[in-house]
Amino acid sequence: MKTTSIFKSSLLIFLLAMVVLSYMQMDLLVAAFQTNPFQGSADSVARGETLWMQYCMACHGREGAGDGPATAQLSVKPKDLTMVALPPVFPDGILAYRIANGKKTMPAWKDVFPPDQVWDLVSYIRSKSKKTAKT
Ligand code: HEC
Repeated sequence: MKTTSIFKSSLLIFLLAMVVLSYMQMDLLVAAFQTNPFQGSADSVARGETLWMQYCMACHGREGAGDGPATAQLSVKPKDLTMVALPPVFPDGILAYRIANGKKTMPAWKDVFPPDQVWDLVSYIRSKSKKTAKT
């Protein structure tokens, strides 16, 4: 009798935790399915490049390799964005989500840039990718 109720309450706690966790990750999951509306647009890459040089290059470097001049002051270095896998392995939507929401030392940009400009930045990052469709 007692073991059953312990089992039941731990099951309930487990289920509650799952619900809370999935809500927390829900926006990330939604982001993963978003695609770049400017996919393949050279104009978008050019707009992204202008923003990149002004706002991102200091930490990420010109090409996104993570070697910007400000990295000397950073405890966590940005990773080499030219080596990020292409979609569907690493979706554009996740890149956009990280730009918008930041991550630890990476600032959030959603109050600075409207979604279109975030996509332009994604276009620029992808234009510097060393990955091909097969790798
Ligand atoms: C103050 C330095 C700094 C600036 C400025 C900055 N970043 Fe970052 N960025 C970082 C760091 C550090 C990380 C790695 C964070 C981590 O993994 O904890 C990162 C991570 C990222 C990532 C990868 C997230 C992932 O999924 O691993 C993307 C994409 C990115 N930045 C884009 C940008 C863009 C676009 C801009 C300009 C609008 C920008 N960053 C400006 C420091 C910066």
